[in-house]
Amino acid sequence: MPKSEVKTSLLDNMIGVGDSVLLEPLTEDTFLENLKNRFDHSEIYTYIGSVVISVNPYRHLPIYTPEKVEEYRNRNFYELSPHIYALADEAYRSLRDQDKDQCILITGESGAGKTEASKLVMSYVAAVCGKGAEVNQVKEQLLQSNPVLEAFGNAKTMRNDNSSRFGKYMDIEFDFKGDPLGGVISNYLLEKSRVVKQPRGERNFHIFYQLLSGGSEDLLKQLKLEREFNQYNYLGLDSAKVNGVDDAANFRTVKNAMQIVGFMDDEVELVLEVVAAVLKLGNIEFKPESRVNGLDESRIQDKNELKEICELLGQDQAVLERAFSFRTVEAKQEKVSTTLNVAQAYYARDALAKNLYNRLFTWLVNRINESIKAQSKVRKKVMGVLDIYGFEIFENSNNSFEQFIINYCNEKLQQIFIELTLKEEQEEYIKEGIEWTHIEYFNNAIICELIENNTNGILAMLDEECLRPGTVTDETFLEKLNQVCAVHERFESRMSKSSRFLNDTTLPHNCFRIQHYAGKVMYHVEGFVDKNNDLLYRDLSQAMWKTNHVLVKSLFPEGNPVKMSLKRPPTAGSQFKASVATLMKNLQTKNPNYIRCIKPNDQKAPHIFAEALVRHQVRYLGLMENVRVRRAGYAFKQPYESCLERYKMLCSQTWPHWRQGSRDGVKVLLTELQIPPEEFSYGRSKIFIRNPRTLFELEDLRKRRLEDLATLIQKIYRGWKCRTNFLLMKKSQIIISAWTKRHFQRKKYLQLKNVTLIIQSYIRGWKARKLLRELKHQKRCEESATTIAAYWRGFQVRREYRKFFRANAGRKIYEFTIQRIMQKYFLEMKKKLPSMSPTEKTWPPRPYFFLDDTHTELKRIFHLWRCKKYRDQFTEQKKAIFEEKLEASELFKDKKALYTNSVQQPFQGDYLEISKNPKYQKLNGAVEEKIVLADVVNKINRANGKVAPRIFLLTQSNFILADQKSGQIKSTIPVMDITSVSVSKQTDGLFAVHLKEGSTAAAKGDFLFTSDRLIEIITKLYRTIFFKTNQKINVEINNEFLVQFNQDKVCVKFIQGAQKNGNLPTCKRKNNRLLEVTVP
Ligand SMILES: Nc1ncnc2c1ncn2[C@@H]1O[C@H](COP(=O)(O)OP(=O)(O)O)[C@@H](O)[C@H]1O
Ligand SMILES: [Mg+2]
Repeated sequence: MPKSEVKTSLLDNMIGVGDSVLLEPLTEDTFLENLKNRFDHSEIYTYIGSVVISVNPYRHLPIYTPEKVEEYRNRNFYELSPHIYALADEAYRSLRDQDKDQCILITGESGAGKTEASKLVMSYVAAVCGKGAEVNQVKEQLLQSNPVLEAFGNAKTMRNDNSSRFGKYMDIEFDFKGDPLGGVISNYLLEKSRVVKQPRGERNFHIFYQLLSGGSEDLLKQLKLEREFNQYNYLGLDSAKVNGVDDAANFRTVKNAMQIVGFMDDEVELVLEVVAAVLKLGNIEFKPESRVNGLDESRIQDKNELKEICELLGQDQAVLERAFSFRTVEAKQEKVSTTLNVAQAYYARDALAKNLYNRLFTWLVNRINESIKAQSKVRKKVMGVLDIYGFEIFENSNNSFEQFIINYCNEKLQQIFIELTLKEEQEEYIKEGIEWTHIEYFNNAIICELIENNTNGILAMLDEECLRPGTVTDETFLEKLNQVCAVHERFESRMSKSSRFLNDTTLPHNCFRIQHYAGKVMYHVEGFVDKNNDLLYRDLSQAMWKTNHVLVKSLFPEGNPVKMSLKRPPTAGSQFKASVATLMKNLQTKNPNYIRCIKPNDQKAPHIFAEALVRHQVRYLGLMENVRVRRAGYAFKQPYESCLERYKMLCSQTWPHWRQGSRDGVKVLLTELQIPPEEFSYGRSKIFIRNPRTLFELEDLRKRRLEDLATLIQKIYRGWKCRTNFLLMKKSQIIISAWTKRHFQRKKYLQLKNVTLIIQSYIRGWKARKLLRELKHQKRCEESATTIAAYWRGFQVRREYRKFFRANAGRKIYEFTIQRIMQKYFLEMKKKLPSMSPTEKTWPPRPYFFLDDTHTELKRIFHLWRCKKYRDQFTEQKKAIFEEKLEASELFKDKKALYTNSVQQPFQGDYLEISKNPKYQKLNGAVEEKIVLADVVNKINRANGKVAPRIFLLTQSNFILADQKSGQIKSTIPVMDITSVSVSKQTDGLFAVHLKEGSTAAAKGDFLFTSDRLIEIITKLYRTIFFKTNQKINVEINNEFLVQFNQDKVCVKFIQGAQKNGNLPTCKRKNNRLLEVTVP
């Protein structure tokens, strides 16, 4: 839906009319009625075309919220109900988008809400322009400059609790994007007389009260101040407290704001010192003192205050005291000092206080400017906001020079308003090519002329008077006016030369009256000359320059004697005139936006709409004229595009789309609606509607048509919605069915594919098998053919070659082969033969299976041969020894434990060598035969088992026992008598020799011997007996055997036990039957 359709309009939900131009009928009464009606409904803003009228509500309205800011942001001026934000937005956007410098002119009398309006505009612009840390700081500084300036420049007056006592024009500077860069503030004519004197019911500037209420004890002590207001002459006592104003809290706000704006702590301190000094100046009092020469002199009553001021400002007390007592006038080269009387001293004091404060204020503005000035040098767009004091009329001819100046300024503003508004309006008609008859309105240029004309204007006269030598008083000034301005139609004076007012008793003699655009104002001439001169005695400015106070010193540069000039400073009037002229020039270069503030009542109360008061303001502000001018030609104008956009639905040709130019569209539209042609005119880019009623008719038609359209839209929307729904469903259905069909088709396809694959595989299998069979068959055929061919060829070859073979050729070949193999075998065996040692067991493996038997046999033969070879190397002697050893082995091996020891011992046989030993010569002689064995053995006594050594001598036929020492033969026993021998199984050397029963040798019984060489002895004995008798004796090996002792048969029993004397057995005859032998 296009955005424009939902937009509301100025004309929607309107209370009265939002734009007074639409009033019908237009009279002052209806105008006021409309304002009142809207005011009662909390609609404080009303337009006259693009001018905003603001009626002070004197209460907080919920129309300045951030939501409101958003609502008005980027909307057209007439789109929403009237608001100051609409104007601010319009100004800001045309500044940003159309690159037009803007100024916001806020006028209205004191208390009408100008300052509030200026703050609202500034806060709106701050809210909608760019964001970001740097931009926010600039905004914050711009906004916070307000509380500082208000504290020093505002005061409670009868009309306004927070009345601006200075004019302020602030330029806010923006970059091309519309982000704020900084600002410049200009101030106009601070009402400095307020410092020393305030009208009843009014206060001095806020800062004095704020400092005394909000300053800490320490601060006050430092500034040498008392907290009570009534301590100070300069503070208006009767209205020191203002309802709903918390001076202490405001003091904190101001200090905080000063900090944000960029004041250093010491700067704040300096400022407060000056404020304190001004306050204390008021307490200096003078008393008259007559001198001898008759001149009046004055003296300071209580010097304590003076001393404290001097301490505060770092001033030499004597210097200041002198400055209050003398006045030095320098004329040409002369320097004349005159004393001051009391009145003059007070005048000097007050002048100093006013000047000090005024200069401090100017310094503050400059200081703020320094902080907020734009840093970058880029081209700037400017929005100026002018909040200047409003038109002021005091009753009882209390209007003085200040009011005169203020009203002059307002006169100038009215002038610029008239010029720009009316000129703009008229120019527009001309530009649009609309027939235009000039509208009469009161042009106040004539009043401006009366005041500012350089030759005979009031200000020029005043200056002339001030500069004139001779006695100059306010009265001489009035006289001058009476002469020069007498003929001016707007100037009234009792004594004027034209004598027009000679009988006007309402006009006192010391007053003159000016018919301002806003009404007649009577000015009291008293103080005009002084105030215009703005005289500060040179002694005082020099004294101020001499202080050690940095700030004060800088405020009085003319006090520097080096820079002293005798030229008079420009008068206050001419200064003001010049600055107003600059301001006007400045404003004229900018696109003006007007806010005209109206004060609804004098009580500062909400909900009261004092009609007379408002009527008066409406009159002097020229609002009716403003409306009339706007309406003179046409009440309402609108560009063709927006007009067509708003009303095109009223005509079938332009609805919904008009393809040609919007001007033609509007023409077609108005023709079809049958609106009388005199009701409108076609401009170049705008349609001008003469009568508001026509517009309302159009609006009514539009409203009704909108209802129809709403129904139509509803209808179409519903149809569209249903159709969309239907189409969606249809689409879904198609999608679903497509998917289903796809699914089934796919399933079918897969089935078919499977079946095909199976059939295919069967066919391929069958084909492959068939092929395999064929190939196999073919291969077999080929193989068979080859075999047959081979056999056939073999057969053929054999048949062919048979004649070449002998019958036994095969055998020969075989034998030859075998021979070769055998040959090889033996030759290789020769190399592989094992060692010749008979104990060697290894034998190389056989190479051929068929040689198995041969191989074993060969091994046997080799072994035998090896043994034979081994034996062949033995001598006869050695052979005998081996035979003996063999015999011993056969007898004892594995039977008697002693045997193993004997294996290594060679059998020597003759251990005694009887033939060589002379000791045995006799014995040797008795033995004829060859000695087989000769050794010493132990014979065991048959009776007690004791042992005795005996030579045991064995020959080929006997064995002889002889005494070991003497060789005396004890017994000779033929070997044939020996029947057997008995030994134990143990390692002992005991043996028994059994003798044949009945033989001579056997008379005493069998013999028992022990010998380590038992094995050798028995073996030799055995062999000897065998050689002699060819019989083998029995060798009994047992651990228990019987022996024959004399007639007894005794059992020899071996038992194991501990051995006492080496290997010798211990024998013990137990009884007749038992001989125990203990063996190891
Ligand atoms: N738009 C407003 N909404 C609420 N109160 C307002 C508004 N405008 C003015 N006022 C009240 O009126 C008083 C005077 O307004 P101010 O702007 O100081 O007047 P001026 O500057 O014209 O002398 C303000 O202190 C405030 O209380
Ligand atoms: Mg103000």
